[in-house]
Amino acid sequence: MHNGNLLEIRNLTTIFPGRRGDVRAVDSLDLNMRAGEILGIVGESGCGKSTVLLSILRLIRHPGYISDGEIRFRGVDLRQLNSSAMRQVRGKEISMIFQDPQTTLNPAFLVGEQIREALRLHHIIPGRKMPWPFDAALRRHEKQRVLEVMREVGIPSPIDRYVAYPHQFSGGMQQRALIAAALVCGPTLLLADEPTTALDVTIQAQIVELMLRINKERGTAIILVTHDLGLAAEFCQRIAVMYAGRIVEQGNVEQVVMHPRHPYTQGLLNCRPRISMRELRVQPIRGNVPDLAELPFGCAFAPRCEHVQDVCRIGPVPMVTEPDGHINRCLVHTGFQRQENWQWSDRVERTV
Ligand SMILES: Nc1ncnc2c1ncn2[C@@H]1O[C@H](COP(=O)(O)OP(=O)(O)OP(=O)(O)O)[C@@H](O)[C@H]1O
Ligand SMILES: [Mg+2]
Repeated sequence: MHNGNLLEIRNLTTIFPGRRGDVRAVDSLDLNMRAGEILGIVGESGCGKSTVLLSILRLIRHPGYISDGEIRFRGVDLRQLNSSAMRQVRGKEISMIFQDPQTTLNPAFLVGEQIREALRLHHIIPGRKMPWPFDAALRRHEKQRVLEVMREVGIPSPIDRYVAYPHQFSGGMQQRALIAAALVCGPTLLLADEPTTALDVTIQAQIVELMLRINKERGTAIILVTHDLGLAAEFCQRIAVMYAGRIVEQGNVEQVVMHPRHPYTQGLLNCRPRISMRELRVQPIRGNVPDLAELPFGCAFAPRCEHVQDVCRIGPVPMVTEPDGHINRCLVHTGFQRQENWQWSDRVERTV
């Protein structure tokens, strides 16, 4: 069977073909996750965060495709499942809060009915395997369950809100409704794509509180995708930092935030406003997010890196795992030498 990891991703590569060549939105990505864990994926816009989540659920739209890798969930490779088995996993075992609440909720349907939809699809009410669509008792059961979840995620007066339309909800309430829809089938893993980005800070804090409570009470594992390293540090146990489709650093919060190895992670930390007694200091990372269709050979961060050396531009940069499990992909940090107690991945990351 499997070795206790809830999710194990190996060498995942997702490609979007384009006029200027293939874009490797996710490139040779490795990621492990234990049951009940909260993992953060952090990086700038366009680095492939949403593509990782959509790949896990096999929701990459044509002409995009997963070209390589394994996505093992409870030991089963999701890439090998047929589409009906995959539908059983989607929404029920693994559910997702999509990036944009306004486009995910359908304006023409009642919010409560939209939350009930997942229950209906998965026939989740016990003892009723083959529901008759007009079964009033079943509908009552399902509605009861939806109201419970609405209450759980802090939607006030759920009975009234069940029959409201999305436009009658505030942004924060819409986000709660989406979380309710993601939770209604009791998933083991919740994928949350920038769940707080569109919200103001006080509501952000409430949504984060809510997700932490769900993790604690239900034991739901969560992958939080965000561009905000500070948020990830508060919320997650482990963090993976992505740059141009690849993970450049990975470790627990203390490793990544207190002892960052990769210059990109250090840059992200310096971008955070720090209010000291005298000044508000923010140091942006110079340069722009790279064009994934024209990545430089060698380290993709090299053009923006303050510590760049010639060797960084020569070839693919291997992953290094330090004895404490802290992973990074930076030649400058490793001093260009193979240290005895470091474990190197020799897989060639990219063939150009
Ligand atoms: N449907 C698509 N067709 C073509 N290219 C795509 C598609 N979806 C994503 N991409 C490309 O893949 C790359 C990664 O996109 P993705 O949406 O995963 O980034 P992201 O990290 O989630 O960004 P953001 O923070 O802006 O949401 C982008 O460079 C984008 O150009
Ligand atoms: Mg995204």
